[in-house]
Amino acid sequence: MFDNKIKNICCIGAGYVGGPTMAVFANHCPYIKITVTDINESRINAWNDSDTSNLPIYEPGLDTLISLYRNKNLFFTTNIKESISNADLIFLSVNTPTKTKGIGAGKASDLKWIEASARQIAKFSKGHTIVVEKSTLPVRTAKTIENILSESQEIDNNEEKKTFSVLSNPEFLSEGNAINDLEKPDRVLIGGEDKYAMNSLVDLYLNWVPKEKIILTNIWSSELSKLTANAFLAQRISSINAISALCEATGADIKQVSKAIGMDSRIGNKFLFPGPGFGGSCFQKDILNLVYLCEYYNLHEVAAYWEEVVNINNWQKDRIFKLIVLKLFGTVFGKKLAIFGFSFKANTNDTRNSASIKICRNLIDEGAILSIYDPKVDNNQIEKDLNLSLNETSSREKMLWSRANSIQSAVEDCHAVIILTEWEEFKNISWTKLIKKMKRPAWIFDTRSVVDVLKAEQAGFNIWQIGNYTS
Ligand code: NAD
Ligand code: UDX
Repeated sequence: MFDNKIKNICCIGAGYVGGPTMAVFANHCPYIKITVTDINESRINAWNDSDTSNLPIYEPGLDTLISLYRNKNLFFTTNIKESISNADLIFLSVNTPTKTKGIGAGKASDLKWIEASARQIAKFSKGHTIVVEKSTLPVRTAKTIENILSESQEIDNNEEKKTFSVLSNPEFLSEGNAINDLEKPDRVLIGGEDKYAMNSLVDLYLNWVPKEKIILTNIWSSELSKLTANAFLAQRISSINAISALCEATGADIKQVSKAIGMDSRIGNKFLFPGPGFGGSCFQKDILNLVYLCEYYNLHEVAAYWEEVVNINNWQKDRIFKLIVLKLFGTVFGKKLAIFGFSFKANTNDTRNSASIKICRNLIDEGAILSIYDPKVDNNQIEKDLNLSLNETSSREKMLWSRANSIQSAVEDCHAVIILTEWEEFKNISWTKLIKKMKRPAWIFDTRSVVDVLKAEQAGFNIWQIGNYTS
């Protein structure tokens, strides 16, 4: 099924959402020209790199889609003006991080990139344009976008008046599984008032999404549903992480507890994996945004309730860091530790808000020397995240951290292995071989429950595993 009303789509923002989402649209809407535009020139160059291993983001299956559709019906460009002026429909997929200064700093979303995009649309668009919020936004942002669009237009004398319809169509993809989530979404949510515009967007999705999965709501419900979905998901992780600490203290086993509660169909078995604390660019930001909204509407108890989800998450990172130090005889000063995994979850090169950043930085501040291995995260990113250049040395002229190219080279002379991301290759390690390269007593700290405890112990390791009393 193909809708011929929309012929040109522009997506502003070539990031983790814009790139994969438009690649899937290109796959299912072959007769639509899709242009993804961004102010970041090096990012656009990377999207256009003929070697798809150099794409700016790593996402399983993405390289195949890019090879198939790039420069056919999918284009990446920095020419924002032309992309906007040709478009019938524009997706706003720009970043909306937490504000770092000014009113609402630390909680409210920073909407400056959304506002800048809306002003560009007001300036360069032609005729009628459907503007779709893909970014996650606070409730009622659509009104702000509408105001900017209607009040900051610049129209040439011989140009017809510009008109706009603003819709909300939040994205629910999760990184590392983005293509699958986009191909087979649990639901597609479209909020708006203009039925014609909503139907145009519905028609696009009907090219691959079953009708019963497309939900139409008012615009505010759509915006709030996105924040709420992320808050509920994050709340489950904080709940299971909180119980993991109780398991460690009592002798219960978190895997058994997860299984037992997850088999209750009212609870369900997903998102019950304990870990070092949730990371990623969304959960913390979106909950804090929800907290800010509640405070704004004087719902202080509601705000406090949701804020606790973030507090427990920070506590989880902190308690893991402290217990590592404690188990290594109360000091990590001068000790070399191997870090397995730096991204915030497996199958992505994204490190935004990764628990690894906080845990690694705290260990370095305690005097540890880190040897970091991650299959997809590079030196530059780790330097930026730790805020420590690779050449930075301790008072004893030792490098504070280095990046290893393999599991084997990472553990050389280490006192412990700390598993922070659940990459597949960490699940089948030959611990017997690895321990030979390490100092004794050798420790494993497994924050992702990927290690076979018995095998690790047989190899001679001491092991601490999250939510497991055997430690
Ligand atoms: P990102 O930082 O990876 O990408 C955003 C891009 O927008 C950047 O490349 C930036 O240069 C570009 N940009 C900013 N202002 C611009 C402008 N005026 N003109 C052109 N380009 C501009 O962010 P992301 O992870 O793709 O997230 C985008 C939005 O989607 C956020 O609101 C986020 O909350 C939401 N979201 C993210 C995910 C996820 O898994 N990452 C999932 C669902 C929703
Ligand atoms: C999340 C939402 O899942 C997605 O719907 C939304 O669009 C964007 O935010 P994302 O952050 O990409 O997606 O990944 P997700 O799989 O949700 O994981 C987030 C964090 O929670 C990761 O650090 C992950 O390791 C952690 N997590 C997830 C757990 O610790 N335990 C779990 O059971 C699940």
